[in-house]
Amino acid sequence: MNVKGNTVLITGGATGIGLALAEAFANAGNKVIVCGRRENRLTEAKKKIPALYTRKCDVTNEADRKSLFDWIKQDFKDLNILVNNAGIQKMADFTTGAKELDKPGDEITTNLSAPIRLTALFTPFLMKQKSAAVFNISSGLGFVPIAMMPVYCATKAGLHSFTVSLRHQLRDTTVKVFEIIPPAVETELGREEGDTEPGYPGVKPVVVSDAVMKAMAADQYEIPAGDAKGLVEGSCRDFQGTFENLNRW
Ligand SMILES: NC(=O)c1ccc[n+]([C@@H]2O[C@H](COP(=O)([O-])OP(=O)(O)OC[C@H]3O[C@@H](n4cnc5c(N)ncnc54)[C@H](OP(=O)(O)O)[C@@H]3O)[C@@H](O)[C@H]2O)c1
Repeated sequence: MNVKGNTVLITGGATGIGLALAEAFANAGNKVIVCGRRENRLTEAKKKIPALYTRKCDVTNEADRKSLFDWIKQDFKDLNILVNNAGIQKMADFTTGAKELDKPGDEITTNLSAPIRLTALFTPFLMKQKSAAVFNISSGLGFVPIAMMPVYCATKAGLHSFTVSLRHQLRDTTVKVFEIIPPAVETELGREEGDTEPGYPGVKPVVVSDAVMKAMAADQYEIPAGDAKGLVEGSCRDFQGTFENLNRW
């Protein structure tokens, strides 16, 4: 697929991996729109990449999704790429009642229902474009779960499964379906309001965006970046051994 001349919407594109993707797409000669809930982060992103278009939107809210779609149809008629990147992550300990699940944000709604709903909303529109794509961001943890984040991993496994089916359903259309499978990446994922801990440990977000641009040019639809390759391969070769190795805590 051509890596330039596209119009790209990235959910959660004001920070982390989404922002790295926004920068990579913008530098490659694409028009880029990012959305997210926090106005200040959208403003910061626009300061860093002045060509960005930004939109406040909570992807878990049906009215927000609808108004995002209406705005795109009106102002960005050439939109041809949807990147479902927005996500949240929590620990959850079921031996103590999994009380963490009551903290703000629902992983199933954010990481699984919202990308599915957005895809349903945008696909007929994307199918009218000569060349189009949906990129879903799953995780190496969708292939082999880390048990301390059981719901997160379940949402990513679900998103992987959904992506495989979507690719099959859209195989005779102009819409290509990519799955980005990041390893641990140094971002704010899993941090709570007011956290002073350093960001999530892992590789820099640019490792993922570099892998995505290369894979897109090569029409390689599954994109495991960095160490995520080990989890994807391990899930087929030796699921139990890979799981035990990841969960040695
Ligand atoms: N970091 C990793 O190690 C890693 C590994 C594998 C996969 N991933 C996946 O990569 C994606 C990006 O995460 P990241 O690591 O870059 O973390 P991040 O910096 O925290 O990015 C998540 C983004 O999603 C947005 N978001 C969250 N809930 C939203 C909602 N309801 N509506 C709209 N936007 C929302 C956040 O902005 P607002 O809070 O302002 O809305 C934020 O910009 C996620 O899907 C994550 O699961 C990350």
